[in-house]
Amino acid sequence: MVQLSLPAGSKVNPHGRVHKATGAAVRTFRVYRFDPDSNESPRIDTFEVDTKACGPMVLDALIHIKGRIDSSVTFRRSCREGICGSCAMNINGLNRLACTTAIGDLGAEIRIYPLPHMPVVKDLVPDLTTFYAQYASVEPWLKTRTPAPPDQERLQTKEDQVRIDRPAACILCACCSTACPSYWWNSERYLGPAALLAAYRWIVDSRDEATGERLDQLNDPFKLYRCHTIMNCTDVCPKDLNPAGAIAEIKKKLLERQH
Ligand code: SF4
Ligand code: SF4
Ligand code: FES
Repeated sequence: MVQLSLPAGSKVNPHGRVHKATGAAVRTFRVYRFDPDSNESPRIDTFEVDTKACGPMVLDALIHIKGRIDSSVTFRRSCREGICGSCAMNINGLNRLACTTAIGDLGAEIRIYPLPHMPVVKDLVPDLTTFYAQYASVEPWLKTRTPAPPDQERLQTKEDQVRIDRPAACILCACCSTACPSYWWNSERYLGPAALLAAYRWIVDSRDEATGERLDQLNDPFKLYRCHTIMNCTDVCPKDLNPAGAIAEIKKKLLERQH
């Protein structure tokens, strides 16, 4: 079972409410439930869903459950096409986007939990306050000293653009950071793969003029060097990005700077 940050003194009740369905295409969804306004411990509810009555993705099933079975089931979502990053959750033991995970690719029983090792706001909604603060701490915007050309944008070559192309595609879903054991154990001090990938994106941007300052900021035993190259982050990224590779590149740049 996925490791969750449970409310103090509680344990998960695996036998929550059961909602039955009939039909040839019924699939079983076991969904983590936690309501901070009740005094109950978290529980796992079972929803049987006729998948002919909903779309093909796990998010479609959750929307069906919320709309037709239990309106109190709480989760985040927006774009429904892998762009906003808000529907990240732990599905059958892996952090993934519910909107791009096909029900048909999963086993008979589908287990849905919030992203691991994060405080839970309600049901499948993790508290990402620290995660976003860490992202903000790398100052993810262009920093320059020289004025922009008066009559055009700051230009890049195609090769310069290619260097930031993939890292800039991060959707901040937090699948990577919440799959990282180092982040689980040091999330207050280790920035985690998502924030470090964002830092890398600006470090290698040919237009940015704060590279030294950015590297200084990361040169810290906890912020950066808690990464032990376990690679979970790269394995789970739903956008096929490589935060572990970016972290290794930052370490390399810091090393090169010493010589
Ligand atoms: S490579 Fe680094 S950041 Fe990625 S999961 Fe491993 S320890 Fe975490
Ligand atoms: S690197 Fe990938 S897994 Fe991590 S936040 Fe960005 S898109 Fe999500
Ligand atoms: S709803 Fe936007 S990524 Fe899934």
